[in-house]
Amino acid sequence: MSTAQAWTDLLAEHDLTERGRCFARLDGHEIALFRIEDAVHAIADSCPHAGASLARGALKGTTIQCPAHGLRFDLASGCIHGAGGGLAVRTYPVRIHAGRVEVDLGGAVN
Ligand code: FES
Repeated sequence: MSTAQAWTDLLAEHDLTERGRCFARLDGHEIALFRIEDAVHAIADSCPHAGASLARGALKGTTIQCPAHGLRFDLASGCIHGAGGGLAVRTYPVRIHAGRVEVDLGGAVN
């Protein structure tokens, strides 16, 4: 059974420049957004290891590296790279609609 997605407006598309990043708070969620070419990724801005902010991490392709201890996560799946014991960062469905960036908070994974 599938449920309808509930898109919530987050920010203007132009706030995310190409390969840019942004931080936003929405309904108790702290979200880091990354624009990589034509794709936008939204993840929880809290590393599942010890809670560090991922918004300021080093970005290589679609991999974000936590600035605290260096764990690396795939922005699309939230999964950790390498041997990480199954740690994964929460990811949110995200879309661009009418010049706005929207997320589905209820559709978060991980
Ligand atoms: S808090 Fe992110 S790797 Fe430790």
